[in-house]
Amino acid sequence: MSDKTLRFDRLEPLREQVDAWRAGGDRIVLVPTMGALHSGHLALVAHAKAIGQRAIVSIFVNPTQFGPNEDFSRYPRDTETDLALLAQAGADAAWLPSVETMYPTGFSTRIEPGPAAEGLCGTVRPGHFSGVATVVTKLINQVRPDIALFGEKDFQQLQVIRSVVRDLDMAVTIEGVPTLREADGLALSSRNRYLGARERAIAPRLHAVLAEMAERLARGAEAAPLIAEGTTALEAAGFGPVQYLEVRDAQTLAPVVRAEREARVLVAAYLGATRLIDNVAVVPA
Ligand code: PAF
Repeated sequence: MSDKTLRFDRLEPLREQVDAWRAGGDRIVLVPTMGALHSGHLALVAHAKAIGQRAIVSIFVNPTQFGPNEDFSRYPRDTETDLALLAQAGADAAWLPSVETMYPTGFSTRIEPGPAAEGLCGTVRPGHFSGVATVVTKLINQVRPDIALFGEKDFQQLQVIRSVVRDLDMAVTIEGVPTLREADGLALSSRNRYLGARERAIAPRLHAVLAEMAERLARGAEAAPLIAEGTTALEAAGFGPVQYLEVRDAQTLAPVVRAEREARVLVAAYLGATRLIDNVAVVPA
């Protein structure tokens, strides 16, 4: 790691550094991550540097957002590689809290987000968004950034965080950053590294199916038949189970019959043992 990226394992020195930067007039941008960094995260760091003076990247694999049968214990962790990537990307600081720092003995508060957390991942991952909302609120309170960046790939997460920040009057601007994709359309994700060669060859179909649905919805097609067709196409390609394939309003996440204003097609589907999510914007003509 170059000496440009400062590493913080304890909250107090991190806060002192952030306060010093802010006193010098710098705008602080936080990029919360769970590590296993890829080019999508590094694009967030680049964006942070473009809109602020100081980019702080948190790395914390948050146990409270994983269900009992999910991949918490095998979630990829490679802090030294992550730190080297952050140094190359020009991040100013890495915030690496321990589980004890985030959830000390006696920790007992949880944030329960509202309707944005209902349905989609909120249904198939009970408790997930409460875990996300709680940890993101803590990270924002710890770092006290002016802006926090989140990838649009986790579109429902982004909307949940926006609603929490709005409802709790948190003094931070939340900005969504468009999904970065491989040349074949597969959305970048830390979980792509779980895919075997055969699965990796199939995986881009996820985006292809969503993109075709989005195009037809934008031209006025009804959602329900497209969802049925899309689910069949994904299953034929080798995905399954398809946990959801839905069309939702881009602002409220309410289900959409026909896209009369901006919407999103959102999917979660297993490919072998790997759960992939993605979404594509529908912009009516
Ligand atoms: O998107 C993620 O990586 C995580 O959900 C986040 C926002 C860092 C919270 O743990």
